[in-house]
Amino acid sequence: MKKEKAVLLGVAAAAGAALGGAAVYLKKKNICPRCEIKKALSKTKIHYSKDSLYNNGTCAVPPMGWSSWNLFKNKIDENVILDIARAMKISGLADAGYVYVNLDDCWQSSMRDENGRLQGDLTTFPHGIKWLVDEVNAMGLKLGIYSSNGTFTCEDLPASLYHERTDAETFAEWGVEYFKYDFCHNVPLPSKAPFIDSILIGGAGISREEEYSAQNAVLTGEAKLVKEDGGKSYIKGLCSGIGAAEFKGITVPEDGEYVLTIVMRKSDSKDKFCQVTVNKTDKYGILIPPTKAFSREGRLQLVVKLKKGENTVELTNPVGSAADSAAMQYEKMGAELKRATALYAEKNNCEEKPILFSICEWGKNRPWKWASKAGNIWRTTPDIMPHWASIIGIYEVNVRLNKYAGPGAFNDPDMLEVGNGDLTVQENMSHFSLWAMMAAPLILGNDIRSFVKEDGTCDNDNKILNILKNEEIIAVDQDKLGIQCVRIKSNGVADVLVKPLADGSVALCFLNKGPVKVNVKCAVKDILNLASVRLPSAQSYNCRDLWEKTEQEISESVEAGVEPHGVRVFKLSAVK
Ligand code: GLA
Repeated sequence: MKKEKAVLLGVAAAAGAALGGAAVYLKKKNICPRCEIKKALSKTKIHYSKDSLYNNGTCAVPPMGWSSWNLFKNKIDENVILDIARAMKISGLADAGYVYVNLDDCWQSSMRDENGRLQGDLTTFPHGIKWLVDEVNAMGLKLGIYSSNGTFTCEDLPASLYHERTDAETFAEWGVEYFKYDFCHNVPLPSKAPFIDSILIGGAGISREEEYSAQNAVLTGEAKLVKEDGGKSYIKGLCSGIGAAEFKGITVPEDGEYVLTIVMRKSDSKDKFCQVTVNKTDKYGILIPPTKAFSREGRLQLVVKLKKGENTVELTNPVGSAADSAAMQYEKMGAELKRATALYAEKNNCEEKPILFSICEWGKNRPWKWASKAGNIWRTTPDIMPHWASIIGIYEVNVRLNKYAGPGAFNDPDMLEVGNGDLTVQENMSHFSLWAMMAAPLILGNDIRSFVKEDGTCDNDNKILNILKNEEIIAVDQDKLGIQCVRIKSNGVADVLVKPLADGSVALCFLNKGPVKVNVKCAVKDILNLASVRLPSAQSYNCRDLWEKTEQEISESVEAGVEPHGVRVFKLSAVK
């Protein structure tokens, strides 16, 4: 036998022996190896399967407005916000489409009020947020607000995890119309599930709790009835989405709310989570703390809606991965916002003011895969900064995500830095154009008060203001097809982007990321090849430069010089 072959056989024999040993060990410890493999795989996937868009009617095209964070950070107060709103009107930005005035972090007091509700900082927002909403609405603008999907915000102020219903109701009562939900101090949902003994139904019209025992549940996946030493059996294997237990034939006399009690075996010192699905549609979640008690069994209670006659109750824990947890927590807040605005309108007999839901978990859990089901827009990247490297770094991530955007649901590469830091005029124009090409939210982050002159009129010559008010670039962003541009060419320095528009034309952008001027050329046939493009094939095309405001007729290709860190943006339409 050759030496290498002998070595290989030796290694295989040793591995076999090790595996055999591991199997004996796992069996002794009552651990199911298949379940362990499934749990490990579950951590790498997203199990989010809801297939409809969040769609609350707020975001057919990307939102436009201003936010306090990029410029003011924690130094905000109601006077600054009102000055900004006034400047939005005077500068003509409001007429150009910028309508949201968004409070970012640091609007809140560190104390919730006596009813457990969030409240504005007691000294910087002395009139309260409802008053501010009314003032901003009176100017024809909308107010946005901020919290975190965590126990505190990024500036360590009270936040909305575990307070979703109360906070959504508060925002709806105040009349807020935009809600950014950050991810600081998040506590992920655990992927462990409790061991189930039985479920009990009590409450309305039922004199005694009725028991449905584990033995009668239909078990799927890795869910199993396991007998313990004391002789009692429990359902195990419901964690990480690998198994489910369904109780059928749960009969109640009338439609209504009932108390569902889950009797669980207190097992170990890990956090657990159980999702209850009633009649395949209504979902409820219960968090279970690590076990410290003396007694063996615990009662977990929920009030659930049941219908007259037979019902089903399914128990599982679908959380396999960090992304599952984030998706479920954001989905919960999104559902509470919808519920709260509808409820407020019903109670007050007024028109519903839906709240645009902006998910901000910085792209950590691939939100482009699930966030359109939970909210309207989702951050795809870490925080932007006012320099070229940050803008291009963010662009490089976001530009690849074009297939996930569409009407009602947009990638959010973060708020604009146009007018901030040391960005050159060229860089500001490029930043603005790229965000428009990517159908990104246009949320300004600069000091728009500087657009108002001392005499209270608009500074029409302001270069930054004129960038932000370029109506043809805004129209590219706001196009009702809601398609994010496709990058059709890149040589590492120069990129060519194409965005189909609703009138059958296309927006074409040449970007120069580098420090020296370049010449860029794009053949019309490369644009026509794109599936989403509706531009008809023609003898010649009108090519309008959306910054220079000039036009030329071209037939086969568009060619242009692009300044360092610059862009050229054209609108291409067929000549009839
Ligand atoms: C995070 C967000 C920012 C901003 C701050 C506020 O960093 O990504 O956009 O909201 O928190 O603290």
